[in-house]
Amino acid sequence: INIAVFASGTGSNFDAIVSKVESGELEANIALLVCDRIGAPVIEKAQKHEIDTVVYRAKSFADKAAYEQAVLDDCRQRGIEFIVLAGYMRLIGPTLLKPYERRIVNIHPSLLPAFPGKDAIGQALEKKVKVTGVTVHYVDDGMDTGPIIAQEPIPIEENDTADDVKDKIQAVEHRLYPQVIQSLFIKEESQ
Ligand code: GRF
Repeated sequence: INIAVFASGTGSNFDAIVSKVESGELEANIALLVCDRIGAPVIEKAQKHEIDTVVYRAKSFADKAAYEQAVLDDCRQRGIEFIVLAGYMRLIGPTLLKPYERRIVNIHPSLLPAFPGKDAIGQALEKKVKVTGVTVHYVDDGMDTGPIIAQEPIPIEENDTADDVKDKIQAVEHRLYPQVIQSLFIKEESQ
């Protein structure tokens, strides 16, 4: 199955997905990285693995639909069947959602529906919750609102800093995301 990863930033989840593909634990072909931020570290990571990459400035397009149409064309050219958001800091609009309905997933660093949007870890610390976690969900037109596929709780200890919580969350993300994506592919095959 041909997948595209959309990412805007560091790309640690991108790297985790690439390594699970390389080890054969995730049976997919990463046919494209879509990045919306020039100079984002994830771009270099893709280059290292010789993964086809497109980088766009959404602002250079007339509107969101025009930007997403360009991305859609890239995906279609490469026969992309499934889209994985990994730190992609942009809401997906109808131009991409319609053709890829139930074929776009996202990972979010909280137990949704708690703490959607930006800085979920900061929000959790602010509220002094004792448990946060990671959610993998289908993408719809809302902000982190789509149907939940998998969740894993992570305890926040008394003295945990934002960095401590981030480290714990990322460790879970890097294991959980490739696993969940693989399980979706298996389910699809058996249908
Ligand atoms: C992850 O924490 C993910 O949950 C959120 O954005 C972050 C991306 O980190 N959506 P990275 O770029 O994969 O390191």
